[in-house]
Amino acid sequence: MQYQFPNDFFWGSAASAAQTEGAAFSYGKGENIWDHWYKQEPNRFFQGVPATDASTFYKNYRSDIQLMKQVNHNSFRTSISWSRLIPTGTGEVNPLAVEFYNNVIDELIAQKIEPFICLFHFDMPMAMQKMGGFESREVVDAYAKYVETCFKLFGDRVKYWFTFNEPIVPVEGGYLYNFHYPNVVDFRRAATVAYHTIIAHARAVQCFRKLNLPGKIGIVLNLTPSYPRSQNAPDLLASKRCDLLFNRSFLDPAVKGEYPQELVELLGQYEQLPKIESGDCDLIAQGKVDILGINYYQPRRVQARLNAINTDGPFMPEWFFDNYVMPGCKMNRHRGWEIYEKGIYDILINLRDNYGNLPCYISENGMGVEGEEKFITDGQVQDDYRIDFVKGHLKWVHRAIEEGSRCFGYHMWTFIDNWSWSNAYKNRYGFFRLDLATQQRSLKKSGQWFAGVSKNNGFNEGEE
Ligand code: BG6
Repeated sequence: MQYQFPNDFFWGSAASAAQTEGAAFSYGKGENIWDHWYKQEPNRFFQGVPATDASTFYKNYRSDIQLMKQVNHNSFRTSISWSRLIPTGTGEVNPLAVEFYNNVIDELIAQKIEPFICLFHFDMPMAMQKMGGFESREVVDAYAKYVETCFKLFGDRVKYWFTFNEPIVPVEGGYLYNFHYPNVVDFRRAATVAYHTIIAHARAVQCFRKLNLPGKIGIVLNLTPSYPRSQNAPDLLASKRCDLLFNRSFLDPAVKGEYPQELVELLGQYEQLPKIESGDCDLIAQGKVDILGINYYQPRRVQARLNAINTDGPFMPEWFFDNYVMPGCKMNRHRGWEIYEKGIYDILINLRDNYGNLPCYISENGMGVEGEEKFITDGQVQDDYRIDFVKGHLKWVHRAIEEGSRCFGYHMWTFIDNWSWSNAYKNRYGFFRLDLATQQRSLKKSGQWFAGVSKNNGFNEGEE
């Protein structure tokens, strides 16, 4: 069967500033939380590897963009590093950063690769974190100024903007589960950070509209369907609450301009609501996006809690559910994540039916593999597993589009194996393999295959 995608479908990959640029302490860049945390606790990073040099995109962006061409990308997402552009988070703009991002954007456009630009991908400037990060409304103001600067500098050429990448992840990592700085475990503070992130997002959308720029504005969310173990009422309730906490907490305000009433009630019941200021609701209503980016890697499976809650412990989302491992599920054993291709279709159909079928695209999908060097033959990573993974997901994307979804693109995570937060280079995801010692890039089999898919705007069943 031929899986042909709509004309002008976007094919490409995604990455982010902190994970690729390197030059973390040079060319006028200020520190972000990752630079700071590494100095404090290098042992929290896989094999003690920092992002200091990452994959040298700052230095090699021109030749890297040539590699994008080689795999027929017509689009690419990266982010602007706030601490590179405005080293102390607010105030002086770094002219070298302006030059760098101008060069990247211009080079992408010259090579006919549409730049998709995200304004925040987990990398809070340290100066802003010292003021409380998104717990502070002052930092929200600073973010609003920073994005206005970006729109004014680059908005004449960038047509696809995203206010945040996976905004729930810094909330989970930094304020609930201790895998991002500042390593706090406190639900109410987490809820405040999440809420202020939505306020910041809405400020960005408001500013974008005021400037009357030609492009579109969106947000990138990691939407993870919460499948219940069974159709029993308690399992269904567990899945509904998970969905509220982990998906709808960002999806509803970003797309519908308001929070789900059930979420407000649930947090209210446990006295976890953040402080709401007058004017917030109007502002959030103005934050409705034009487009949505969807990151999807794995589903979430849940069941009703098996044991009583320890109410002496901190209030946590897990008060409402237990994770559930479905017997016999398909696994990516190299990363320990379930592979469930239909999840991508379920997300798109949910958006079609319950979120006004807004234009959206798959902004990240991918397969992390630890120890990928074991798959190298004749100098090339033979990642047939990744080709199967992509094919499996693309078939479901194709079907959703046939059934009316307005999905307009598919980006893989990622272009070149990149540094990934505390996992550093543990899990490899790229179309190109990165040799850490030499920084050499070499095309994987999946990259070759994807080049054909992009060129043909689809693929044939059985074709490799
Ligand atoms: C995505 C993030 O969720 O997962 C990326 O947007 C990240 O920034 C990617 O690198 C892979 O994460 P990991 O932990 O498997 O290396």
